[in-house]
Amino acid sequence: MKTHLGLSGASAKKTAENLEVVLANTFILYTKTLNFHWHVVGSNFMELHGLFQGQYEALALSVDDIAERIRTLGFKAPGTLVEFLHLTTLHENKEDLKATEMLKHLLHDYETMIYHTRNTLTDIDEKDVGSRALLEGLLTHYEKTSWILGAYL
Ligand SMILES: [Fe+2]
Repeated sequence: MKTHLGLSGASAKKTAENLEVVLANTFILYTKTLNFHWHVVGSNFMELHGLFQGQYEALALSVDDIAERIRTLGFKAPGTLVEFLHLTTLHENKEDLKATEMLKHLLHDYETMIYHTRNTLTDIDEKDVGSRALLEGLLTHYEKTSWILGAYL
């Protein structure tokens, strides 16, 4: 069966399911980065406060793009915090962290997202150029952000 976009129904469903996890991880990381923006302390406060702001702003834009790609494929996008927490493969931090620990947690999360996004890309129907382009853009951004975070450590 084909979707309204002319893609294989089964592969579009699989891609949408993978995008649900990408969406949930992006939303959790957005929240985590916002939390770190608020609570980072230390002599490089302003530097990291600004760094985290740029990162959560980029993640907020990605959240919208990922959800709307799922809708474009013809599926319902998860849109509640309960669903995001159920789907995510990332872990939230409830304890107070030093600035270096925040950077390490974020780096680990971006690396997790790089791994998952790359695996998702290998599964995508080659005709699904839109989903591929979205994920390639996200992957490139995650890789660059992981380089930036690693440079602080
Ligand atoms: Fe702020």
